[in-house]
Amino acid sequence: MDKRLLIAQPVATELERFNAYYKESVSSEDQRVQKLIDYVMVSDGKRIRPILLLLAAKACGEINEVTYGAAMTIELLHTASLIHDDVVDNSDTRRGKPSVNAVFDNRMAVLVGDYFLSTALIKAVMTSSYPIISIISNLGRTLAEGELDQLLLVKESVLDEAEYFEVIRKKTASLLSDCMRIGAISVDAPAKEIEKFALIGEILGMCFQMRDDIFDYYSNNVGKPTGNDIREGKVTLPLLYAIGQAPEDIRNSFISIIRSKDFSDANIHTMIEYAKANGGIEYTYTKIEEYYKQAEELIQTITNEEVRGGLTAALDYIVQRAY
Ligand code: IPE
Ligand code: IPE
Ligand code: MG
Ligand code: MG
Repeated sequence: MDKRLLIAQPVATELERFNAYYKESVSSEDQRVQKLIDYVMVSDGKRIRPILLLLAAKACGEINEVTYGAAMTIELLHTASLIHDDVVDNSDTRRGKPSVNAVFDNRMAVLVGDYFLSTALIKAVMTSSYPIISIISNLGRTLAEGELDQLLLVKESVLDEAEYFEVIRKKTASLLSDCMRIGAISVDAPAKEIEKFALIGEILGMCFQMRDDIFDYYSNNVGKPTGNDIREGKVTLPLLYAIGQAPEDIRNSFISIIRSKDFSDANIHTMIEYAKANGGIEYTYTKIEEYYKQAEELIQTITNEEVRGGLTAALDYIVQRAY
């Protein structure tokens, strides 16, 4: 069976209901604005975050209207962050289609992203759950911090593994963590359970972003451009590791390319191939494996067998996924 179906199996009917709610969740009486919303809404993402949120809720209790509201909030916030991220990253493709900034322009994309972000906040308020509203509001800041830190590291040409991990924790793992946290909160789970699911989400998020960063080193069909990270000056873990291990002359030549932002096609090609030929991808998988083991242990402690199966499949998918 398709891994993604396996992940969602314990919450298949709930996911269908979520999808129906989600499709209706953003609208505007302004016809011109509605057209922009439609452009974003026609391409579905993988729905990883709402699925994880529903799984956490199911493991701890009965999925209810607060759970659905929280799931909409999370997916809307995620979508807003992608629309903004494509402006930040100068990226022209998203979910297999031209990105909002590519079809319209950066100004429009910033505002469409704002519209989605504000709709996420409206959905959060509609849950009437103060803890959920509070978590979402803080999460918005954490995501922005992650993206800002990443830009600042590029600007200052910082090549540091600990900084890399901090950025991915903020820009990606925080969202997966909070979605599982909120899922558990929506069914009034005990504090200990809430924290356990939040930790599982965080670990999954770290694996998810490292796997995502590997995509950028290959020309594959993942619905977004590859080779784009380094073009934007982002040195992700495979290259970071390879540069760290390189003989001094090679290291200096790469550092000079990065400092002078001389990202010609030839330089990008050289650095990507160097990272691949010198253990960068293997090293990243070793790191993923370390997180994998921690997540596996935590998932084993979940008593709901169906959810345990779904989350085990999620972990495998996140690590092995081809898109
Ligand atoms: C993309 O997330 C952003 C990252 C954290 C790498 P997804 O790959 O989950 O995006 P969609 O929602 O499926 O398009
Ligand atoms: C992912 O950032 C996290 C966000 C804040 C959207 P990336 O820039 O690495 O994600 P992709 O590769 O564009 O999906
Ligand atoms: Mg991006
Ligand atoms: Mg980005």
